[in-house]
Amino acid sequence: MALLKKKTTLDHVLSAQQGELDAEYMYEEMAKVVEGQYPELAEEFLKVAKSERGHYYVCKKITGKELTKPVPVKAILVSNILKKAPKVALKLVSDGEYDAASAYAPFILEYPSIEPVLKDEIRHGDKMKELSAKYF
Ligand SMILES: [Fe+2]
Ligand SMILES: [Fe+2]
Repeated sequence: MALLKKKTTLDHVLSAQQGELDAEYMYEEMAKVVEGQYPELAEEFLKVAKSERGHYYVCKKITGKELTKPVPVKAILVSNILKKAPKVALKLVSDGEYDAASAYAPFILEYPSIEPVLKDEIRHGDKMKELSAKYF
């Protein structure tokens, strides 16, 4: 039955590919929030944004699809929280990174190119914790 069609691995990677686009946009928006007060922190966010773009391309190689529009929900939410409660925002982002790493785990056997992406997500999570402690 079409309605009960199971999500294929490729569907999951396509969702992840959209997630990478969304993450890139989120970090760019986060950089805008802090660039006036903490330019070096903004640079750190932009570095992670670039890394998310790299992940987007890893997924694109697998799916063969180009996506162009980030879903801005998380970017809006996180950058608003970042203005008032930066530690809370960075905790949300850090947790999201670890969740992203876990979400990639089932696919690394089939797509070994995803393994370095998974490891990057863990690094991003650790990085957000480190930055939170350093700046806030
Ligand atoms: Fe990523
Ligand atoms: Fe990430």
